[in-house]
Amino acid sequence: MKIKPLQIGSLIIDNPFVLAPLAGYTDLPFRLLCREYGAGLVFSEMISCHGLSYHQQKTCDMLKSTPQERPVAIQLFGSEPAVMGKAAALISREPIDCIDLNMGCPVKKVTKKGAGAALMKSPELAAGIIRAVCANTDKPVTVKFRSGWTHQSKNAPEFAQMAEEAGASAVTIHARTWSDGFSGTVDWDIIAAVKRKISIPVIGNGDILSYEQGLAMMEKTGCDGVMIGRATLGNPWIFQQEKPSPDPRIRLIALKRHLQLIADFCDPQWALSKIRSHAGKYFKGLPHGASIRNDIYQATEFSQVRELVDMLLQEPSFAQEPEEQGKQQTDND
Ligand SMILES: Cc1cc2nc3c(=O)[nH]c(=O)nc-3n(C[C@H](O)[C@H](O)[C@H](O)COP(=O)(O)O)c2cc1C
Repeated sequence: MKIKPLQIGSLIIDNPFVLAPLAGYTDLPFRLLCREYGAGLVFSEMISCHGLSYHQQKTCDMLKSTPQERPVAIQLFGSEPAVMGKAAALISREPIDCIDLNMGCPVKKVTKKGAGAALMKSPELAAGIIRAVCANTDKPVTVKFRSGWTHQSKNAPEFAQMAEEAGASAVTIHARTWSDGFSGTVDWDIIAAVKRKISIPVIGNGDILSYEQGLAMMEKTGCDGVMIGRATLGNPWIFQQEKPSPDPRIRLIALKRHLQLIADFCDPQWALSKIRSHAGKYFKGLPHGASIRNDIYQATEFSQVRELVDMLLQEPSFAQEPEEQGKQQTDND
């Protein structure tokens, strides 16, 4: 299959494989790492429009970016058109490439305020939000949503049409309903139905575990891009077409680079907590992975994690050929 660039408004993205917004994970260092490994576009964690409009320091810190990560999309969540519009105006002053609107988050803290996936039950309010954001920015606006609220009320194609008419330049569909949460199977048919309904680009999302699966999703549904979330963790080379090497050394080198990016771009007081959520993922399925993960969780200083990785890189077992590793015991998480 021939890969075509993804065009979102005036933004042209060479690789249509993009990094999903993942709260707690897609901070600046991880976004940079994914860009270095080939992600065409990276999405920030969801950012509260209220936090931005009240200039809350912690929320504003989430906007931190650097030219090397561009193109970058900043994701906003909220349920009030005026506040979303104000937040869009504020972030449009930053060097960003796209504003994404979260209309798919299933978390109760978000939906009980009428935001995230709850907006799929109120398409008129959702349209008001999209219009308010588009009126307050010159950046392309994208909307991320689910198949619908429940299986009885799947409305993704109509919702996508509403988003297009309200001014969105592309949509992402996580092909599960709110009621599914993160369980059940992803419904590729609804991605195809969304694609048939609108003329702006459609990005498919949900349970993609490899580049090949992403290609299959594009081929079977006609979607224009693929968004990958959980499978990027400890696995940032998923954005590359070449077969990823299972060599544990490559994993360690990626982790070493991730640590460097954290050191370069994060406040030192948060560095250890930033890598803790990620580090274990690099050792999934590797010989002695469980004990290495344990050592990382025991570390009390960021520098200890860096020393551990440097030490592991010196170990002969991490330079072995993949065939040799297969003969060893692997942990099976
Ligand atoms: C830990 C975690 C955090 C997430 N945070 C966000 C978020 O901030 N905004 C959003 O739109 N989706 C969020 N999602 C949903 C993902 O972007 C994505 O739609 C979902 O994980 C399905 O894709 P995947 O199977 O490739 O992970 C999150 C998912 C997870 C597991």
